[in-house]
Amino acid sequence: MSANRVANSETTIFTVVNTLAAQHNAVGLSQGAPDFDTPRWVLDIIKEAFDAGRNQYAPMSGVPEFRQAISGIYRTKYGLSFDTATQITVTSGATEAIFDSVLALCDPGDELIAFEPFFDSYAGSCKMAGCTMKAVTLHLPDFSFDRKELEAAITPRTKAIIINNPNNPTGKVYTMEELTVLSEVANKYNLTIISDEVYENLVFDGLKHIPTATVPGLADRTITINSTAKTFSATGWKIGYICAPAPLTQAVQAVHQWVTFAVNHPIQLAFSKILPISADYSKEFCAEMEKRRDYLLARTTEWGFDPVKPEGSYFFMATFDRLSKKSDMEFMEELIKTKQVALIPASPFYLSAVDEGHRLLRFNFVKSMAALEQADKNMRRL
Ligand SMILES: Cc1ncc(COP(=O)(O)O)c(C=O)c1O
Repeated sequence: MSANRVANSETTIFTVVNTLAAQHNAVGLSQGAPDFDTPRWVLDIIKEAFDAGRNQYAPMSGVPEFRQAISGIYRTKYGLSFDTATQITVTSGATEAIFDSVLALCDPGDELIAFEPFFDSYAGSCKMAGCTMKAVTLHLPDFSFDRKELEAAITPRTKAIIINNPNNPTGKVYTMEELTVLSEVANKYNLTIISDEVYENLVFDGLKHIPTATVPGLADRTITINSTAKTFSATGWKIGYICAPAPLTQAVQAVHQWVTFAVNHPIQLAFSKILPISADYSKEFCAEMEKRRDYLLARTTEWGFDPVKPEGSYFFMATFDRLSKKSDMEFMEELIKTKQVALIPASPFYLSAVDEGHRLLRFNFVKSMAALEQADKNMRRL
């Protein structure tokens, strides 16, 4: 009865791991959602917004005050100027923004390139659009990519490259040199870049986030995607946004208007107040996550893994060759059952170099210190 696009739809790896973790009462270092609440000051502004009498449909492209706040923050932080009327769209989380962008750019049979390991919704959006996703591998030991491999993946049907910076699941932060290669390639083959920057505010070791749209040659061909979920530990609200040149904005809005049409009105209103005053909070949150990264990274090494130090996001990957010869799936199951610690196997994030994925597990440090310490105790248990 169902369409081909939903045939063979697999359960996501997060559901698989979460179900097993619940059965074995395992500490979850798996799904990228905090186990602590959204900050009080943010919740207070949200509560007020529900009493502001703005509880009916929001405008299709987003509440004007919120679009102004988004435009303002990109101008202040990066000198980017996105026009409030023609270049900003508020979406139901970055997930919808990714879906809208893929559908806006790719017809059935077209191709889109993603760096692997990738966030799993990229593949799902391509499947729904009927286009083919091709993967270019970020190789161990440091998750760098090879320009030749990138160019080899491009065909006359390639429409876009999707990049996630800082990166989930590796914690990689792309360098200006890498982004310059991306710009050269995008311009050479006339490709659009979909740039998923939801971890923009989680960049460590004194590094600075480089928005793709600020890289020379990319301003006119980049769709920038962001979300309030990660910065504000508020993954339950699903407020995301897209900033892009006017023609690309028209294209994504043509999809958005038939997917959700409009997004939660009062919460957008609240974010129009929250975003402009969030700079100090963002820095503190990032510093706290950096400490937890250092804690978990050190423990992970002591447990016998070989992690790749992340420069951003709240994830990192580690190989486990010294601990087991099993595959990532099998070792994930073993750890949940025998150590009560839940991690995400990496192979579902790979399309071509799946063997690299079989050697890796993803760790997540957006957890309370109590949870991280419990994971340490569990892992050390005989
Ligand atoms: C790389 C990446 N992009 C997008 C999203 C989805 O963001 P949202 O919750 O705003 O839909 C996530 C969430 O885990 C993510 O890791």
